Amino acid sequence: MQRLDRFLSEAGVESRRKIKEVVRAGRVCVNGNAVFAPEMKIDEAADTVTLDGEIVGRSRGRIVLMMNKPAGCVTAAQDKDFKTVMEYLPPQYRKLMPVGRLDKETEGLLLFTNDGDLAHRLISPKHGVEKTYYAEHAGEIDETDIAAFSAGCVLRDGTVCRPAVLEKLAAGKCIVRVCEGKYHQVRRMLASRGKPVSYLRRIAEGGVELGDLPVCMTRELTETEIAALESVDFDEKVLRNN
Ligand code: URA
Repeated sequence: MQRLDRFLSEAGVESRRKIKEVVRAGRVCVNGNAVFAPEMKIDEAADTVTLDGEIVGRSRGRIVLMMNKPAGCVTAAQDKDFKTVMEYLPPQYRKLMPVGRLDKETEGLLLFTNDGDLAHRLISPKHGVEKTYYAEHAGEIDETDIAAFSAGCVLRDGTVCRPAVLEKLAAGKCIVRVCEGKYHQVRRMLASRGKPVSYLRRIAEGGVELGDLPVCMTRELTETEIAALESVDFDEKVLRNN
C-alpha cells in the first residue's frame, strides 16, 4: 500500500504540492471513483489510478506517444535558456523519454516512449529508420540536386550522407526522406546544394505519420503503429530507386 500523492509523484505527475491541488480538485480517480484525499492509501499493484481520465503510472505498460513539436523549444530534459519539449507533455507522460531529437527550430513528429529497446531501435544507425521531412527553402530543386541526394549528399564539412530521396513539390517546397540522423542533417543537406532551409517539419517516421495532429499536441500511437515501428528496417535499395 502507498499514499496516493506519493504514487502520483513517482509516476511523474507534477510536483508533490501541485499533486495535492490536482487531487483536491477531483481530477484523480481510483478504480473509477473520484478521490479528494492526497494521503489516501492505494494498492499500486491492484488499483487503477487515472488523472483526467488517463491511466497513470505503473498500471500502464509500454507507452509510445507522438508530439507535434512546436518551433522554439529544444529536445532536452531541461535547458537554462529555452523551453523544452518536456514542458508540452501532459503531466502523466513526463517520465517518457524523447526518441532522438528535432532541432530547436524544427517542428513536427517527435516520438516519446518508456520502452528503452524500442527507442534504441528507432535511433540506431543499424536499423536506419526512415524519416520524412517537409521543407521550405531558397532556390529551386533541379535534377542534379535529386541525383546528389540519391547518390549520398556530401555536406560542406565533407561528411558523406547515406542515399536519400529529394522530391520537389512546388517552387521552394520539397520532401526529403533520410535513413539517418546526423546533426541538423536535412538543413545541411539542402544547404550543401545551395538551398538554405527556412522552414522544416518532420511528417513521418518509420511509417508512422504525423497527420493532422495540431502543433503542441500529443497522442498515443495505436498498436498497429507501434507494430510498424518494431518491424521497420533500413533498406538502401528503396531510397536508391526513388
Ligand atoms: N534535420 C534537421 O536539419 N533538423 C532536424 O531537426 C531534423 C533533421
